[in-house]
Amino acid sequence: MALLWVGATKLSAAATQPLLDSLQAGGLAWRESCRNGVCGVCACQLIRGQIDYRGRQPHALDAKERKQGKILPCIAYPASEQLEISSPAHPLNSLPLSSL
Ligand code: FES
Repeated sequence: MALLWVGATKLSAAATQPLLDSLQAGGLAWRESCRNGVCGVCACQLIRGQIDYRGRQPHALDAKERKQGKILPCIAYPASEQLEISSPAHPLNSLPLSSL
């Protein structure tokens, strides 16, 4: 189990599921579409920590974006004890579900 920070929000991220599942279980309304690393809708910035795609490919990100630390939570698993990610640009991604 890893600690996942999104701004001031702290969540638990199970090693057995993609970060997107942990974000949504924690009450964040994170946008998603393909859940397969293709569309890029879920993309965000990895600020601290490490992730592992476990053999899957983040097709929605080009080499420059990957180098800049952009990740796709729908296929990314936690690979460090603590991670911090940014909220994606879309404001709906950082709102608690109760506020929608
Ligand atoms: S939901 Fe499509 S890349 Fe993550």
